[in-house]
Amino acid sequence: YKRITTKTLVDMKKKGEKISMLTAYDFTMAKIVDGSGIDVILVGDSASNVMAGHETTLPITLDQMIYHASSVVRAIERSLVVVDIPFGSYQSDPKEALRSAIRIMKESGGHAVKLEGGKEIKESVKRILNAGIPVMGHLGLTPQSIYKFGTYTVRAKEDEEAEKLKADAKLLEKIGCFAIVLEKVPAKLAAEVAKELTIPIIGIGAGNNVDGQVLVTHDMVGMTHEFNPRFLRRYLDLYAEMTGAFKNYIDDVKNGDFPSDKEQY
Ligand code: KIV
Ligand code: NA
Repeated sequence: YKRITTKTLVDMKKKGEKISMLTAYDFTMAKIVDGSGIDVILVGDSASNVMAGHETTLPITLDQMIYHASSVVRAIERSLVVVDIPFGSYQSDPKEALRSAIRIMKESGGHAVKLEGGKEIKESVKRILNAGIPVMGHLGLTPQSIYKFGTYTVRAKEDEEAEKLKADAKLLEKIGCFAIVLEKVPAKLAAEVAKELTIPIIGIGAGNNVDGQVLVTHDMVGMTHEFNPRFLRRYLDLYAEMTGAFKNYIDDVKNGDFPSDKEQY
């Protein structure tokens, strides 16, 4: 694929081709991720944790999300860029939701938005879709509701919550979402949802019988090291690698080894 679109992703599901997705919040990281051939780049509100050091995703603002997204968009050549609408800029009413989505599209150049929730945000999703803006859903463990859940543990283990999740997924497909992220739910439930829907289900902690996977890039390259959920596979230990490099640099500066004769004018 030369350039990934929302339609590409639906076609990939039809062909049984898995979708790869990673986060990026800045130009340099987005360039590496896009250049590696990723299908979807998510400008996640996890930037609140990863970039700004907040404990939750709640504090990040719409302006800050637009700053991150515009930096990412400048770097990409092929990936589809999906941008999270942050907490507080879509929940109060559908008009505000649409205004926020429009600001993201106009000011960042992103290709689609992602919102957390099902039935509760139905009217907002509809309004955004009516404006021609593609929407990705997000169900299961939705971190913007962490104070309602009170815990980051796996969601929808009980029948009632599982039934609601299934109904929400069907609703999001019916009103026109192009894909749904399922976060931290039993693999069996995620597999059922993926099987029943024609739009792709992208999992994080949702098992292997879904249509694609997403991870937070800083976690999967091991730049963060205190967050260790079961679903996280670390492909690098950059925390250790970088710490080693910084220590070497500090030593070189302290004992006068850097710069050398060749590293000066
Ligand atoms: O903000 C984020 O990084 C996300 C993914 C974990 C799906 O929403
Ligand atoms: Na998010």
